[in-house]
Amino acid sequence: MEQTPVAHVLIFPFPAQGHVNSMLKLAELLCFSGLYVTFLNTKHYHKRLLRFTDAETRFESFPKFRFQTITDGLPDDHSRSVSYIKDLITGIESVQPAFRELMISNNLNSDNWPPVTCTIIDGLIAFFMDVSKELGIPSISFRTTSACYLWSCFCYQNLTEAGEFPFADNDMDKLISCVPGMQGFLRRRDLPSFYRIKELNDPFLKLAVTQTINSTRASATILNTFEDLEGPILSEMRPHFPKIYTLGPLHAHLSSRRTNSFAPSDSSNSLWEVDRSCMTWLDSQPLKSVVYVSFGSIALMTRNEMLEFWHGLVNSGKRFLWVIRPDSVKDNDQKSQIPTELTEGTKDRGYMVGWCPQEQVLVHPAVGGFLTHSGWNSTLESIIAGLPMVCWPVMGDQQINSRFVSQVWKIGLDMKDVCDRLTVEKMVNDLMENKRDELARSMDEISQMAKKSVSEGGTSWCNLEELIEDIKSMKL
Ligand code: UDX
Repeated sequence: MEQTPVAHVLIFPFPAQGHVNSMLKLAELLCFSGLYVTFLNTKHYHKRLLRFTDAETRFESFPKFRFQTITDGLPDDHSRSVSYIKDLITGIESVQPAFRELMISNNLNSDNWPPVTCTIIDGLIAFFMDVSKELGIPSISFRTTSACYLWSCFCYQNLTEAGEFPFADNDMDKLISCVPGMQGFLRRRDLPSFYRIKELNDPFLKLAVTQTINSTRASATILNTFEDLEGPILSEMRPHFPKIYTLGPLHAHLSSRRTNSFAPSDSSNSLWEVDRSCMTWLDSQPLKSVVYVSFGSIALMTRNEMLEFWHGLVNSGKRFLWVIRPDSVKDNDQKSQIPTELTEGTKDRGYMVGWCPQEQVLVHPAVGGFLTHSGWNSTLESIIAGLPMVCWPVMGDQQINSRFVSQVWKIGLDMKDVCDRLTVEKMVNDLMENKRDELARSMDEISQMAKKSVSEGGTSWCNLEELIEDIKSMKL
C-alpha cells in the first residue's frame, strides 16, 4: 500500500510587518499539530526579526520548526525603508529562480527533514505558487487582508465592464453597483485606494488584481477572518475561489490554543524595537480615558497631517497614546521631520512612542478607543479587545475595511479623506463620549462572536483542524 508522506509545510510571507506577523502566527498554530514547518523569511527581515523579538527562542520548543532565509532581490546597500515598498515588490519577483533552487535542495538534501509536501504562499506574491506547482507540490494561498478587500479586487473586471472603473468624474460619493454583496453602501471612495488612479497600468493596481486572480489557482485559500464577520462576502467568493479556510482572528486563535485565554502574550513579531514605557504611562491613567493612535507599519503622513491630528487630539481634551514610527513622515527631508510641537508640546495628557506592544495596549483598561488606519491586523486586534475605532484609512485595503467597520459592522466611525483638526476633535469626542455606548454595544457583540470562532468547536477552530487533516492527507 502507498504510504502518505510525512506532512511538511513551507510558509513564505511577503517581507512586511503585517504579513510576517500573521503568517508566523499561523506557523505556530501548525506547529501545535505536530506538522513539520519551514518558515521562509527574506534575509533582511529575518535579521530584524531576530534583533527585535524572541522568535528564535520561542520556536525552540518546536523541534519540527525551522527558519530558512532567501534574498529579497534587492542590493545589500538598499535602504529598504517603507517608502520603497515598490522596489521590494519588484525585487521579490526576481527571486523565483532562487526559490526554485531552495525548494529542490530542501527536498534532495534534507538534514533528516522530510521533503516539503505543501507550500503556503502569501497571496501578494502568488507567482511563487507557480514554482511550487511546477515541482509537483500543492500550494495554498494565504491572504493577510479582509475578504471584502479581496472580493473587491477580484471584481475588477465587473467594474471595468460596467464602466464604473476608471471613474468617469470626480464624484467620490457615487455608489458602486457591480460588486455583489456590497450594493447600496460601497462608494467610489471606499474601493481599495489603487482604484483611485486613472492609469490602468498602475503597478499597484496590476499587482493587487493579478495576484488576487492568480491566487485563485491555488489548491486552497486561507483567510485571517471569521465566518460570523464576513459570511455574506465569503458566500459570494466561494464559487470563484478554491476551498476557503477562515482561521481568524489568528492572534486570538493562537492565544486560545496556547493558554486557553485571549490575553496577549509578552512575545511579539515586531520588526521595530518595542518601547514598553507606554505601559507604565497607561497604568497611571484613568479607566477607558485614553485614545490609542496608530497608523500601522507602512503608512506615511505629511507633517501637516500630523499637526492636524495633534491639534485635534489636544483640542478634544482627551488623553492619547500615539505611535509615530521614525520613518513615517512623507518626503523625508530636513523640513519634514516629526514636528517639534508634537514631541515637546504634548505634556501630561499625551504620550508618544516609536513602536509599542499594540496587542497589549489595546486590552489595557485605560484605553477607551482606537484611532487607526484600518490595517486588517489592527482591525482584528481591536475587535478582540472590544475597542471601537475611528478610521483614517491611508492606502490599499484600508479604504474598504473602514467602510465595513462603520457601515456594516457599526463598530467605528469612518473619517476617510478628511484631515482637519475640527473633524479629528469631533470624531475623537464621538468615539469617547457621544457615540460611545452605541458603538460599544455592536463591538461587544462582534467581539464575542470573534472569540467564539477561535474557541474549541468554533468555526475558525474547526476549520484549522480540517486544514491540518487535509494537509496531512494532502486532500487539497
Ligand atoms: C498593511 C495592510 O493595510 C494590512 O491590511 C495588511 O494585512 C498588512 O499590510 P499594516 O500597516 O502593516 O497594513 O497594518 P496592520 O495589518 O494593522 O498590521 C500592523 C501590525 O503591527 C499589527 O499586528 C499591530 O499590532 C502591529 N503594531 C503596530 C505593533 O505591534 N506596534 C505598533 O506600535 C504598531
